[in-house]
Amino acid sequence: MKLLVVGGGGREHAIIKSLKKNPSVTEIYALPGNGGIAADAACVPIGATDIESIVAFAVEQRIDYAVVAPDDPLVLGCVDALEAKGIPCFGPRANAAIIEGSKVFSKNLMKKYGIPTARYEVFDDMAAALDYLETAPIPTVVKADGLALGKGVIIAQTREEAKTAVRDMMESHVFGKSGDHIVIEEFLTGPEVSVLAFTDGKVVKPMVSSMDHKRAGDGDTGLNTGGMGTIAPNPYYTDAVAQRCMEEIFLPTIAAMNAEGRTFKGCLYFGLMITPDGPKVIEYNCRFGDPETQVVLPLLESDLLTVMRSCTNGTLADTEVKFSGRHACCVITASAGYPVSYRKGFEITMTPEAAAHTYVAGAKLENGKLVTSGGRVTGTTAVADTLEEAIREAYRLCEGVRFENACRRSDIGARALQARKEK
Ligand code: AMP
Ligand code: GLY
Repeated sequence: MKLLVVGGGGREHAIIKSLKKNPSVTEIYALPGNGGIAADAACVPIGATDIESIVAFAVEQRIDYAVVAPDDPLVLGCVDALEAKGIPCFGPRANAAIIEGSKVFSKNLMKKYGIPTARYEVFDDMAAALDYLETAPIPTVVKADGLALGKGVIIAQTREEAKTAVRDMMESHVFGKSGDHIVIEEFLTGPEVSVLAFTDGKVVKPMVSSMDHKRAGDGDTGLNTGGMGTIAPNPYYTDAVAQRCMEEIFLPTIAAMNAEGRTFKGCLYFGLMITPDGPKVIEYNCRFGDPETQVVLPLLESDLLTVMRSCTNGTLADTEVKFSGRHACCVITASAGYPVSYRKGFEITMTPEAAAHTYVAGAKLENGKLVTSGGRVTGTTAVADTLEEAIREAYRLCEGVRFENACRRSDIGARALQARKEK
């Protein structure tokens, strides 16, 4: 089978490495892929949002199955465009990807169908939003409606901060059109859990839970990033919580999307907060999370391609989705200065042992050498029988990933270890 994977980050590298395990796979093309993915797939320099060129390439190469991994092409209708040419795909159509593409849509969906989430108000008028903030409970959370590279969420500790966020979004348009509509919502507390789930629009099969580490600095300090590391499973996601999530969140979400005529097929990402009142949805993503995928897929024992195709074909109910009972830890090595400004173009060297456990994100090939080209450069994952061992091993393996200006958090998994002691 000839496969195409749209995207070019660590998540896509993890997906490609998993897909390759299926013996029927003869070729994998990554569009655009990256310098590290080039070791595992044929990288083609077509951007992930260049839908027209992606479709033309897929038709010309007679691709048998396509996986559209990032949010932008999904929201832009990449799956719709490929399907229109008869190419089966993993991923939601545009009318379902809106669950991530518009926070106003997802909040209204949750309200309409009684899915637990933070209380909120939607504004398309700045004066009304500022007025509301005069009396809104503080802290509060201000969110731009559309995709904003994960930066469109401001946790405001004071009324002034909240007002500044509103002005930035609605007046200065720092997130472009995403700020035309905003959501102001209740600040929730509790540990966060990421759950990725396979769905064919009929049944939903959650993957092993995980915990992201979004802040740049140790002890969850510093700026929000795309994610500096992950562990799985997440100790806060107990069997009791999982059961509530299935009944109160996962199944109702699938049913709600069907009722709206927006059947969701693919990977639905539930960003959850386990609040004192029970699990609530912080956000939906219409795709695999990054770096969550880099701990979840290494624990998948079933064949990824088979599971993905069952989501496309509507046969997920009859398909086994099995995870090992082991633990995984992924540590991101980033360019110092990420997520603000950082230098790049430094050569990356990896020991063979580290390379075998590393997914490459921000790197390109230059004269045959792998050099840094982004903020998050690599994700190194270890799998072990205990969380302690997985963490220790991931950090040991990271020592084999070297480049100038490299930095990483030193406490990935520490909160999870602490959580287990509290229990
Ligand atoms: P998002 O970009 O939607 O993933 O949000 C980024 C982060 O902001 C989340 O991972 C949470 O840590 C935090 N966050 C978002 N919404 C809320 C909320 N209502 N209450 C508390 N924290 C939130
Ligand atoms: N790690 C969070 C995300 O993929 O959005």
